[in-house]
Parts: sequence; structure tokens; C-alpha cells
Amino acid sequence: MIFVSKNEQETFDFAGRFAKSLKGGEIIALNGQLGAGKTVFVKGLCRALGVKDEVLSPTFTLMQEHVGEKLVVWHYDAYRLSGGEEAYMSGLTDYFGDKSGVCVIEWASNIEDAFSGLDAIQISIRRIDENDREIEVSDGKNKS
Ligand SMILES: Nc1ncnc2c1ncn2[C@@H]1O[C@H](COP(=O)(O)OP(=O)(O)O)[C@@H](O)[C@H]1O
Ligand SMILES: [Mg+2]
Repeated sequence: MIFVSKNEQETFDFAGRFAKSLKGGEIIALNGQLGAGKTVFVKGLCRALGVKDEVLSPTFTLMQEHVGEKLVVWHYDAYRLSGGEEAYMSGLTDYFGDKSGVCVIEWASNIEDAFSGLDAIQISIRRIDENDREIEVSDGKNKS
């Protein structure tokens, strides 16, 4: 499905609605160019799952764990990575499938082979203009 967001708040709210469908164990592959709104999306998702901490882009730490009231959110940023091997070596795949939370990965296409064969929800955010974004959610199997 495709949702058109008109501003940052709409992306935040859309992510919150999406988060309500999560049960734990999901892998969410988030793609879109710099400034698309990936981190805004993760902030909305975290809020809906009861995370109280501030959510920032984990570009330098690669992963931030946020313990929410409903689920844990493992928030990854694969911007600096190239390939699943590197992701695995960095411990990025450790929480994949852990039922106590969800893994959400910015720049997931950089490490696509890290979750080939696993069920990943693909979300891509496309910047249309300054404030319009097209958010595409494709549920189901990750292309392997
Ligand atoms: N509809 C929108 N949805 C999300 N962000 C938007 C939107 N319109 C403008 N923005 C702006 O785009 C930027 C998105 O930043 P960020 O979420 O950090 O991007 P990314 O993580 O994809 O690099 C923010 O400055 C935000 O205010
Ligand atoms: Mg980001």
C-alpha cells in the first residue's frame, strides 16, 4: 500500500498506526534517500510502542536499543555498511527475529543479504518535494 504524507507529523502519525500491527519479531527494512524521513518514521513507531527516550539517527553507533512499554525497538542505521557479512560481523543481526521487539533498519538495502530468506516488511519513503513523501509498505517476503 502507498500512503502520501504531506508533512513530518503525518509521517510520524502514519508510523504510529503502522506500529499497532506489530507483535514482536518483525524486521522492518526501511529505505529512502537522505532526508526522506526514515528517522521521523522510526520516531513515530517508537512513540506508539511506548518508548520514552529520545530517538536519534544511530549513524555512528549502528544500533540503538529503545525499551518501550509494548515492545523493544532495535533501531539500526546501515548507512556506513556494505553487505550482510559486515552487518553480521558488527552484531547487527543479533536481534533479528527476537520476539520481545522489532528490528527497524534505516538504509536496509545496504545490507539486503543480511535478511534474504527472512520475512521482512519493506518500507520505502520517496521524497516528492519539500514536504510531500510517498511511503510504500510491502508486507511479506523479502526478495531473496
Ligand atoms: N512529509 C514528511 N515526512 C517526513 N519528514 C519530512 C516531511 N516533510 C518534510 N520533512 C523533513 O525531512 C527531514 C527528514 O529527516 P530524517 O527523518 O532524519 O530523514 P532520513 O532519516 O531519511 O535521512 C526532516 O527534516 C523533516 O522535517
Ligand atoms: Mg535517518
